[in-house]
Amino acid sequence: MTTENQTKIYTPDAAFAAAANVSGMAAYEALCKEAETDYEGYWARLAREFVTWKTPFTKVLNQDNAPFFKWFEDGTLNASYNCLDRNVERGLGDKTAIIFEADGGEVTKVTYSELLAKTSQYANVLKSMGVQKGDRVVIYIAMSIEGVAAMQACARIGATHSVVFGGFSAQSLRDRIEDTGAKIVITADHQVRGGKKLPLKSIVDEALTLGGCEKIQNVLVVKRSGAEIAMTEGRDLWLGDLAAQQSTTCEPTWVEADHPLFLLYTSGSTGKPKGVQHSTGGYLLHAALTTKWTFDLKDNDVFWCTADIGWVTGHSYITYGPLALGGTEIVFEGVPTYPDAGRFWKMIQDHKVSIFYTAPTAIRSLIKAAEANDAVHPKSYDLSSLRLLGSVGEPINPAAWEWYHLHVGGGRCPIVDTFWQTETGGHMITPMPGATPLVPGSCTLPFPGIQVAIVDETGNDVPNGQGGILVVKKPWPSMIRNIWGDGERFVKSYYPSELKGYYLAGDGAIRDANTAYFTITGRIDDVLNVSGHRMGTMEIESALVSCTELVAEAAVVGRPDDTTGEAVCAFVVLKRSLPTGDEAKAIAKKLRDHIGKEIGPIAKPKDIRFGENLPKTRSGKIMRRLLRSIAKGEAITQDTSTLENPAILD
Ligand code: PRX
Repeated sequence: MTTENQTKIYTPDAAFAAAANVSGMAAYEALCKEAETDYEGYWARLAREFVTWKTPFTKVLNQDNAPFFKWFEDGTLNASYNCLDRNVERGLGDKTAIIFEADGGEVTKVTYSELLAKTSQYANVLKSMGVQKGDRVVIYIAMSIEGVAAMQACARIGATHSVVFGGFSAQSLRDRIEDTGAKIVITADHQVRGGKKLPLKSIVDEALTLGGCEKIQNVLVVKRSGAEIAMTEGRDLWLGDLAAQQSTTCEPTWVEADHPLFLLYTSGSTGKPKGVQHSTGGYLLHAALTTKWTFDLKDNDVFWCTADIGWVTGHSYITYGPLALGGTEIVFEGVPTYPDAGRFWKMIQDHKVSIFYTAPTAIRSLIKAAEANDAVHPKSYDLSSLRLLGSVGEPINPAAWEWYHLHVGGGRCPIVDTFWQTETGGHMITPMPGATPLVPGSCTLPFPGIQVAIVDETGNDVPNGQGGILVVKKPWPSMIRNIWGDGERFVKSYYPSELKGYYLAGDGAIRDANTAYFTITGRIDDVLNVSGHRMGTMEIESALVSCTELVAEAAVVGRPDDTTGEAVCAFVVLKRSLPTGDEAKAIAKKLRDHIGKEIGPIAKPKDIRFGENLPKTRSGKIMRRLLRSIAKGEAITQDTSTLENPAILD
């Protein structure tokens, strides 16, 4: 179907719609209406349906101390009970919970009963080390059954986990350990990715020497590579050995609905990464609900979310959502391009994956590979098991959408382009696959009950067709509860006074004048999105200027990139004369390595440009807009008359 302006619209297939968990636009609209008519009643109904409570809640939403909202506050529950025991009690004990595929292709499956036993053993280990409800546990591990079990084990005893992505450096890990005040780190000897054995434990060792981690009592190590590693006596212990001595049962610790299930650090426009604090009850509700409605998960699906458990997508759509529903899911240790760029397609074929959820960056890089080599093109694999595709983390450009739809989805699978954030806990704007007509490049309409809107700088609605600031007008159950230890920053970052009490997402957006569909136009703050990874420009600038022997000044901006969406571009003023040729290359490498050490390899700039100075206004502000144009290679159209040093542009 095509509209006047040639925008393609893909309407849901009738058979898919009829069988879908949200079966058609009327069903979607009925849910929206229900939420509109009785907002609290709507969420209370779903919270009773999707979550098993130890003590049922009687209060739904408490707004007394806004924006520190409370949901279901007098209810108690346990997230691990909801994801594991409950399924075993329902007769799903022998059902496969996780199909794990290692980097090298070895497959291990665990049933719900087995995952419950492992989780309970880990929980008993943590208890035996003195970990109690409310204590924090940092998890620095790769994609593994052990990683999921470690998170579930924390949840089981009411400890708050904070997973740190395995690509972060010792310095970043140290910052997070210190900020959480964790007692325990759970890690592995190594991680294996793309055929390479990469250290994890030795990075933990380094982090712990950097200072500020004095609260850490023990480091629990999962054996992955089995290679010889340094173990500090009295502090470091093999988790597998300890777990083997523990009982396979562990009574869950029942916690209040708002008890912090996890902290996850994410970048903002200023300062150090912030510890986004999520609740147990509201979070779990939305993780389960969105898995059911957005992904249309059913009992015999094989669900695969390719995100890492170090990011929020891995939390909501690996560790919690699919397990809460008793689903079967894939956990993949490796990378999409090893041993070749057909890895995803081969795994979909081998495991008969029916729902596949990945990031536009991965799709774009696999398109390039497939177009160069038929052997890694999806057409060389049997992908007929697929029935639904998803996209997350960054805008998906229509060309990539069309390719994904045609070549991966065989033209028959709906694509859910899900807009959300670490702070939102789960999907906010997304199609319902059996209901919403799809437009490539648009995340379409709000999830039922989520009150997203586009406003101007003073919080007034802007008409459709006009861009503005994306906000959420009403609190929702899975929303961020606080920034760990910094309530003031929480209020300032997300509830600025000029926005009438609305949640500020930090993105710009526009609604189509005809369809009212949302399109995300990008961050409105100094946050970059590189391959779906969120990074603050200030963080990278601070890392650069911390290389004090070389760098006098630095400014970081983003520029569009064909594969990674955005690329980091750094403008650097050195403390020495301008380098050229090989010398410039060598210094750029040094700076990249320095950033790798300070933050992690994901933050390394793609471009580093040296200059005598940075373009500044007379009041000394760096003109970032100008730098962005330079980074993109555009002609300068901005007014440069306020430049203090116009000659710099040359
Ligand atoms: O800019 C938006 C972009 O990613 C940001 C959130 O990043 P993070 O907290 O790391 O969470 C990523 C996984 C949910 C948003 O502020 N973003 C996320 N999903 C989309 C998106 N931009 C456009 N379309 C999306 N579907």
